[in-house]
Formats: sequence, structure tokens, C-alpha cells
Amino acid sequence: MAITPYQAPPPTNGHVNGNGQKADFVVAHDVVKEFILGDQFVRALAGISLRIPQGQFVAIMGPSGSGKSTLLYLLGGLDRPTDGHITVAGREVENLSSEDLAAFRRETIGFVFQAFHLVPTMTALENVSLPGVFIGMSREEREQRGYKLLAAIGMDDRLDHRPSQLSGGQQQRVAIARALFNDPPIIMADEPTGALDSKTGQTVMKLLRWFCRSQGRTIIVVTHDPGVASYADRIINLKDGLVVEDRMLRPRIPRVNVWRTVEEALAAEADETHETVE
Ligand SMILES: Nc1ncnc2c1ncn2[C@@H]1O[C@H](COP(=O)(O)OP(=O)(O)OP(=O)(O)O)[C@@H](O)[C@H]1O
Ligand SMILES: [Mg+2]
Repeated sequence: MAITPYQAPPPTNGHVNGNGQKADFVVAHDVVKEFILGDQFVRALAGISLRIPQGQFVAIMGPSGSGKSTLLYLLGGLDRPTDGHITVAGREVENLSSEDLAAFRRETIGFVFQAFHLVPTMTALENVSLPGVFIGMSREEREQRGYKLLAAIGMDDRLDHRPSQLSGGQQQRVAIARALFNDPPIIMADEPTGALDSKTGQTVMKLLRWFCRSQGRTIIVVTHDPGVASYADRIINLKDGLVVEDRMLRPRIPRVNVWRTVEEALAAEADETHETVE
């Protein structure tokens, strides 16, 4: 297959379908990221352009060092590009002040990091429920929701464990439940199944797919694993900081019935997953 740099299609600035979802929900235009560390210069992203419509499930793949995490961090407003433009949910991310950027991340994005970034002194339940603190949820409400999310991924028997008392896969599941806590329009996850056995990994991917299909959320997942990427609608491949391939695995399925509450549906999807896997 010939490898040619990806050319982003012209902007549409409209709606993609009858769901009223935005065609240009996440947009990167000629994004460059350079790092200078001592006398070393690294061009981690060499000019990335892409458009992700609202409600799409995207996997970003590519070899180690190709720029996957860097791209995800920039799209998530955790770092700023050296050059180029990023627009997410109508906000020009690179122009936001630090304060606005923090608010934007809190309201718009659920982030699952490659290293989980759990708070070491907090229990699993407290870690998952932490986003609720910042939006002023009562303790009872937080704990109920946190419990349901943890139960949905088979972690309700580890509520009081601190991160150091959990396995890598369990910490990863706590990090995922925390990312879902505020019901954000976008979930970004860096190797969300890296530390999981294949069964738990599948549960996590099905949960993310449910979140996309049923709730119309946009999911961007970085992964090395083709099996994980196969849950996505679209796979974007990076190499040396450039998009070298961008393909649709399946047409976008219009969003169907938003059923029940997020927690109930998550639990239902998790039950279904256990049934099909066992
Ligand atoms: N803060 C930093 N300072 C200096 N160089 C960096 C920094 N972050 C990333 N890099 C470099 O940028 C390049 C891209 O890194 P990135 O973490 O995006 O790769 P990746 O595709 O996520 O790799 P992996 O699959 O191993 O996680 C690498 O060469 C890396 O060494
Ligand atoms: Mg990475």
C-alpha cells in the first residue's frame, strides 16, 4: 500500500446527519509539536490535519514514538502545539487561557492516561468520584454514581482499595470509570487496555462503544493493538509524526435510542459483555 500523507477534506462546518451532531467536532490543522530537551530536538508531530465528527469512535495507531500520545494530549488541551490550529467542540484550544483550558477539559473531555494518574491517597471509589467534587455534586450522589460505574466494570469489590493495593489492570479500570464520571461529550484514552487481560479489555472496549453508539459520545483511543482498534469506526495511522493512513472500518451508524440513565445502561452493557465472553 502506498503511503501518502493524509489530506484533510475541506471544512463542512455543518451537521452530519439527522442527529444534529457536528461534522467538525475535533479538528487539527497542520499541527506541529516540537520538543527541545537539552541539546536534543524532537519533532513529535510534523504537520497533522484531521477532522473527527461528533459521535465517531476513532483509534489512533502507529509505532512507538510516532506521536500518538502527543497528538492526544494536544487534542485534549493538555499541551499546546508549536504550530497549527486545534478546534474541539467549537473552542480554539490553543488560544484558551490556562484557566479556560482547565474548565474546557473538565467539561468536555474524559481523559484516560497511559500512566493512570490516580491519586495515591484516595480509595478506588474516591478516585472515580473525584470529577464530581469539581462540579459540586453531593458526597452521596458522587458515591452512588461512582459505585455504579465501578460495578459496571467489575470493580465493586475493590471500592476501598488505594491504587497501590490494586493490580495494573484494576487501576486502569478505575481510571476509565473516572473518565466516564462526568458524562463528557469526548473520551480520550491512551492505551486504555494496555494493562488488561483480553476479557477485561473487551469489556472496556464494549463500554466505550456503547458510550459512542447509544450516547453519541466521541471516542478517541490510542492503541498498539489491532484487536482493540477493531472496535472503532475509523483507524488513523501515524508514522514519524504524520498521518500515513486514515480508513473507515464501518460506516457511521446513526445514533439510536438514548436509553435509560448512563449508569444503568453501562451496567447493562457490562452484563451483556460478561454473558457473551463467558
Ligand atoms: N515532553 C517531551 N519532551 C521531549 N520529547 C518528547 C516529550 N514527549 C514526547 N517526546 C518525544 O516525542 C516523540 C513522540 O512521543 P509520543 O509519546 O507521542 O509517542 P507514542 O506514539 O505515544 O509512543 P508509545 O507508543 O511508545 O507510547 C518521541 O520521540 C518522544 O521521545
Ligand atoms: Mg504513547
